Amino acid sequence: MNFEKLPLNKGGTEKVMEESQRYLMPTYSRIPVVIDRGKGAKVWDKEGKSYLDFISGIGVVAIGHSHPDICKVIKEQSHRLIHCSNLYYIEAQAELAKKLCELSFADKVFFCNSGAEANEAAIKIARKFGSGKGAFEIIAMNSSFHGRTLATVGLTGQEKYRRWFEPFPPGFKFVDFNDIEQLRRSITSKTCAVIMEPIQGEGGINEALPQFIEAARKLCTEREVLLIFDEVQCGLGRTGKWFAYQHYGVEPDIMTLAKPLAAGLPIGACLAKGKVADVLSPGDHASTFGGGPLVSSVALEFLKIMERDNLVENAAKKGNYFKEKLYLLKKKFSFIRDVRGRGLMLGMELEFKGKPVVDTAREKGLLINVVKEKVLRFLPPLIVTEEDIDMAVSILEDSFNTLKGKGTI
Ligand SMILES: Cc1ncc(COP(=O)(O)O)c(C=O)c1O
Repeated sequence: MNFEKLPLNKGGTEKVMEESQRYLMPTYSRIPVVIDRGKGAKVWDKEGKSYLDFISGIGVVAIGHSHPDICKVIKEQSHRLIHCSNLYYIEAQAELAKKLCELSFADKVFFCNSGAEANEAAIKIARKFGSGKGAFEIIAMNSSFHGRTLATVGLTGQEKYRRWFEPFPPGFKFVDFNDIEQLRRSITSKTCAVIMEPIQGEGGINEALPQFIEAARKLCTEREVLLIFDEVQCGLGRTGKWFAYQHYGVEPDIMTLAKPLAAGLPIGACLAKGKVADVLSPGDHASTFGGGPLVSSVALEFLKIMERDNLVENAAKKGNYFKEKLYLLKKKFSFIRDVRGRGLMLGMELEFKGKPVVDTAREKGLLINVVKEKVLRFLPPLIVTEEDIDMAVSILEDSFNTLKGKGTI
């Protein structure tokens, strides 16, 4: 279908908002925009206003909106077979698992439908791995985010996600991210795994220090504890390498992936190596929809596009370009405390809450969001161009000036 020829479908924003408020559980504080369509790095709302999408569905739409090759695969595969149970072999699923293993440290993959589910699989593998010696504790990091299921929120080191939901499954402990001594002291004979995001996303775009990751790997190997990297947000090219762990020269035993893998369709993957990859036996774990024919075909196409169009390299190059531009803004505005992150996973920490900046930028045509209240987060699609970045930075600067003019900041 030719996107340009679709009717504009204007109006009705109020109705969508009213019905959402009336019929949806209020789990999100929603922004008053109805996104109606997207193409590449741009989206349009229901009124026809266009935005540069620098959040891309929180890192999901890595190859841009409505990629024609993805649309083609969805169309063709949906005519052939949308679903069949994992009771049977699925060709695209096998091919996808093989490809992910070739790209990474892993030997085998388990497929599910989301990042939280991928982490649930990792938790179950770790628990079964440790069961022989009575080791069940998992050590996670403060400021981490691993999902919203009871186990994964229990493993998330941020009070705002945890409150109301205790008690969690027992055996989860927390240490400060990048604190080697705390980690060393926390590992006991009851520990089966250590989990961390090499770059924390929801926690404020915080990078693991190389010496911390190296020490974690060494400690885990010495104490026969599994090292799990949650690359749900930072994986699959986002940081300028296929996987963020590759910046550190350190491999995990388990890695979880999700967000961009099926270009916007729901998917999660838990990858493991060696004997860890064979911990689960038939009946231990499963997922009705996990790695079905449609989603696996789309994910294969996503990886093909990433390789063909050199999008991992593009993330590295454009990330450097973008970061330079953000540093220039930091020089101009003293309220910018820090610019950090890798590739196209970048954060800008402000002295004040970022919401007014996010709102003003949106009014001026740029979509970004804020984490940890004061950190503006940028997760543009990996197809982003220098012109897109120039435009985004100019809107950001303009937004700062507007808010300064109003005395808001
Ligand atoms: C690092 C990390 N892990 C896990 C999750 C949970 O993924 P999902 O929302 O797909 O369950 C997220 C989501 O933002 C994430 O950023």
